[in-house]
Amino acid sequence: MFITLEGIDGSGKSTQAKKIGSWLEKRTQSPVILTHEPSCLRSIILGLRNLCATSELLLFLADRAEHVEREILPALIAGHSVVCERWNESTLAYQSGGHKLSESKVKELIRACEFPEPDIKIFLDIEPETAMKRVNSRGNKDKFEEEGLKLLRDVAKSYREMPGLIRIECGGKSEDEVFREITGHLEGLT
Ligand code: TYD
Repeated sequence: MFITLEGIDGSGKSTQAKKIGSWLEKRTQSPVILTHEPSCLRSIILGLRNLCATSELLLFLADRAEHVEREILPALIAGHSVVCERWNESTLAYQSGGHKLSESKVKELIRACEFPEPDIKIFLDIEPETAMKRVNSRGNKDKFEEEGLKLLRDVAKSYREMPGLIRIECGGKSEDEVFREITGHLEGLT
């Protein structure tokens, strides 16, 4: 199983990824790899200021290419499941929806990279205002989080219009309620 988790910053992806990992490990009786993007080029991508949107896009794709070669494919080939925070849909939502690159350009480059397609893509949908409060309470912000509410609103809009995502409405729900909804979708697949 290759599962991806999507959502704006502060939507609770890391919490749910851990819960899904333990649940899946018990259910499949085989190892589950938890991972996230940006991966090995993270410090470069987050450390470079004033990048143009196209360079940013290419760096996220380079990061994914390394991630696929080094971690994702070896794990899937070994028969392990992979739960990954963020994937192609983050690139579409942030670089096109958020940073206004043309959608066709972003889609075309993603397609050309031929990254593995997840079995299920889960989108944790939370109001940008609620997510921003969580991001603010965490302290240290990365350069995307510093862009604030406008970026989160544009990214959320883009995710909400995207086909092929399992949308979990998180507003007013506890972590466990959200998790139960996610496992409801995963039960049919495992
Ligand atoms: P993330 O790891 O989710 O942030 P954190 O762990 O600090 O909560 O990702 C860092 C930022 O990278 C996040 O704001 C979203 C952005 N991002 C893109 O803009 N495009 C992408 O393709 C990916 C994978 C992430």
